[in-house]
Amino acid sequence: MLSPACSISIRDNIQVLHIDNAFASAQVALFGAHMLSFQPKSDLRERFWLSKAAKLDGVQAIRGGVPLCWPWFGDHQIKQIEPDNKDFPSHGYVRTQLWNIVKTLDTPKGTEVTLSPTTTQGAGFKGEAQLQLIITIGQHCSMQLVTSNIGSAHFEYRCALHSYFAISDIRTISLQGITGDYRDKTQDMQTFKTPSPYEFNAETDRVHLCQASNVTIVDKQLHTVIGSNGHDSLVVWNPWQDKSISMNDMEDEGYLTMVCVETAITQGEILAPGQSHVLTQIVY
Ligand code: BG6
Repeated sequence: MLSPACSISIRDNIQVLHIDNAFASAQVALFGAHMLSFQPKSDLRERFWLSKAAKLDGVQAIRGGVPLCWPWFGDHQIKQIEPDNKDFPSHGYVRTQLWNIVKTLDTPKGTEVTLSPTTTQGAGFKGEAQLQLIITIGQHCSMQLVTSNIGSAHFEYRCALHSYFAISDIRTISLQGITGDYRDKTQDMQTFKTPSPYEFNAETDRVHLCQASNVTIVDKQLHTVIGSNGHDSLVVWNPWQDKSISMNDMEDEGYLTMVCVETAITQGEILAPGQSHVLTQIVY
C-alpha cells in the first residue's frame, strides 16, 4: 500500500514510482532504485539530468539520474587481470536489478521511501549484506544507501550515489567546495591538485579523495548544493564529446548539459558482522 503522495506508472519497460507532495515532485525507477527526477516546488527546476537516449528497457543501466554503484565502484578488481571478462559489470550489479518498495510514508517534512534489491548476492562479492535505499523527498532530495553486514564474517565493498546533475552548459559552470588532490582516470590515475576555479574544457574523470560535506555547482545565477556524508571520495565526471558519441545511450551533444558529482566510497569500507554504514547525498 503506497502513501497518498505516491503512485506508480510504466515508462517503456520499467515501473516508475512518482512522488508528489507539498514540497516537490520526484520519480524513482524500481529498476535499480534509480532516481530519475527531483523538482522542488519552490523553483520548479529539475536537478537531475536524464539522457534523452537513455534505455528504459529494464536490461541496460539507465544513463542519467542517480545510478547506484554497489558492491564495487567502476571496474571490478578482476578486470586488471582479465580485462575482457564480462561477468563483472561496471559499477556493480544492483543498478540493473529490480528493487522492491519496503515502505512509503508521508510526514510533515516530506515523503520517505525505502527500497531494497531483490538480492545482494552476485558474482564478485562474497559478503552477506542487506542493502536499503532510503529516499526522502521534501524541500531537499535526500538519498541514504544503507549497507549492513548480516553475516558472520567481515566484508569489504565500495559504492556510490552516481548523480548526474542538469546544467545549462558544462563550458560555463564551475564547482565550489572540492579541495586537495585528485587521481585522474584519464591519465593513468596520476595525482594532481584540484584546480581553482574548478571549470571544464575537456573529458573529466577524477577521483577526489576529499570528504567535503558540501559541493556547489555554480551555474550562472543558479546554485545546486550537494551535501555528502559517509563518503571517502567525490568523483567528478563528464565524458565530453568523443565519449558521448561513442555511447549508445547518450546523445552526441549530451555532455554539454550534464555533470556527475558522485558521493562515493572508492577506497573500500570494511564492515564487521552486525555493523552498518550509511552513504548519504542531499541535493538542494
Ligand atoms: C564514472 C567513472 O563514475 O562513471 C567513469 O569514473 C565512467 O570512468 C562513468 O566512465 C560512467 O560509467 P558507466 O559504467 O555508467 O558507463
